Amino acid sequence: MQDRVAEIAKLQVELANQKAEEEKLLKKVEQLKKEADRAADLAEQLADVTAKKDELLNANEFQQKELDRISEQFRAEQGKRKEILNELEDLKGKIRVYCRVRPFSKNESEDPTKQKMCVDINDEMSLSVKGRLHQNYNFDSVFGPDSTQDQVFHETKRLVQSAVDGYNVCVFAYGQTGSGKTFTIQGTEENPGLTPRSIEEMYRLIGNMRQYDVELSCYMVEIYKGELRDLLLPKGTKDKPKLEVKQGQNGQVHIKNVTVKPLSGEADTTAVFETGLGGRQVRKTLMNDESSRSHLIFSIMIDATNKLTGKKSLGKLSFIDLAGSESSKKTGTDKEGQAEANAINQSLSALGNVISALAEGAKFIRYKENLLTRLMQDSLGGNSKTLMFVNCSPSVYNEMETKNSLEYAKRVKEIKNNPMQNLESKVIQTANKKIDAQQMMIDSLKGLAQDNGLGDKLAELLASLEKNDDEHEGGTVFSLNLDGVKGEDSQIREKPATGRKSNELGRASALKTETSGRPSMKPSQSGPIKQFKK
Ligand SMILES: Nc1ncnc2c1ncn2[C@@H]1O[C@H](COP(=O)(O)OP(=O)(O)O)[C@@H](O)[C@H]1O
Ligand SMILES: [Mg+2]
Repeated sequence: MQDRVAEIAKLQVELANQKAEEEKLLKKVEQLKKEADRAADLAEQLADVTAKKDELLNANEFQQKELDRISEQFRAEQGKRKEILNELEDLKGKIRVYCRVRPFSKNESEDPTKQKMCVDINDEMSLSVKGRLHQNYNFDSVFGPDSTQDQVFHETKRLVQSAVDGYNVCVFAYGQTGSGKTFTIQGTEENPGLTPRSIEEMYRLIGNMRQYDVELSCYMVEIYKGELRDLLLPKGTKDKPKLEVKQGQNGQVHIKNVTVKPLSGEADTTAVFETGLGGRQVRKTLMNDESSRSHLIFSIMIDATNKLTGKKSLGKLSFIDLAGSESSKKTGTDKEGQAEANAINQSLSALGNVISALAEGAKFIRYKENLLTRLMQDSLGGNSKTLMFVNCSPSVYNEMETKNSLEYAKRVKEIKNNPMQNLESKVIQTANKKIDAQQMMIDSLKGLAQDNGLGDKLAELLASLEKNDDEHEGGTVFSLNLDGVKGEDSQIREKPATGRKSNELGRASALKTETSGRPSMKPSQSGPIKQFKK
């Protein structure tokens, strides 16, 4: 019996324990339930947050896309605005000015006194010089340090079409030594610049002109220490003919006695250009490993004759790589270098004076003061379509020079040219043939006079005719007067069939100007040149 009581007591204890355990478990279940509810809540909240996050991400993506679209639209609008402005400027005859800021050089980026940028590029058409000299500048295009040769050419190639259409086109680069002028105009082998790209474009355009016969030729000169040098004159030429800058009666500048090379294709043209470059004066300076010490002028003449109508257009495409504006302290040159620098500075300041006078609308412009200004007479205030590149360094070290160059360029933007298409009708070509025949007669008369001891008298007579004609130079004559028109085109063709150096009597061309429709005078080529047929 006692055993049974003990058994029951034990069972009762066990039961109590089990109950306690059960209560504990129930509590745990209760707690787990609560936790499960909370987890469910949290899961719900998480789902909400995730949904919201996705919503936000979508909205963000949408906003980004919208932003990209608007930026793209803005860029396109700005491009259009630029195009329209440029066309407007062209119509007004304004010289176009592009600014290009080069990247930091290795030397600049490693030197703490030079590695700070002195310009801010605001957009595709404006930039500011920072710091003490703070100033905003607007140009027709502004290219930053990351700009590619292709982008620069893209905005320039329209001018190649103009030259093919019969306009005088001049592209020139201005800026301090080492600012990127030569890189822009010539480029490097890996990164060709405007000249090789334009040559390629010119041949591409000509290739499509099936109804035209196109004759191409070129000359290349440099102005070194105030003297004109013919870079295409065959090496070893003993009696170097005296080069003279002349201006035709239509205002077009040309060089008397310069070597004119006929061109037969793209490779040939590039080879001629490179041969000429080989003769250019360069020098190592502190600013540049190979600084150009001369102004370089490369001109391609494009004579296109319509096979059906016989009408001729006479275009000229010139590239001018100016020598750098110098501070001898920075470039660190010797005595010879100083003489070069003086000549460069003299010509650039003469150019600056001409630019200022033109910008102020002065009546008398001192083109004759310097060879460079004489050579650029038709490009500044003349009949050319002209594009100036102002090249700048980005470094604070060159802040002053950059500011000076930009001020110079600002004045160029004020200049107005009067671009005209040089077109020559068949009538004028016939007249020119007659003049050529008369010239041959004069040549044989000269021979006769010499034989009969009358050479001096004839020379006197011709000199007086020449003097008469020189007095007309620079003036624009808009009438066709075949009697006594003096030859302005005395450039030497490389292989003239007649062996004649120049046309003394001269040739006339009636030019129809695209802007005014007025006829004017245009010199023509003196000798036969190789034809480039499409
Ligand atoms: N936009 C550019 N991008 C890359 N390198 C450039 C650029 N402009 C100039 N350079 C480099 O800077 C150096 C000086 O340029 P360069 O054209 O010779 O100057 P400049 O003719 O004005 O004296 C050269 O080594 C050239 O290759
Ligand atoms: Mg150079």
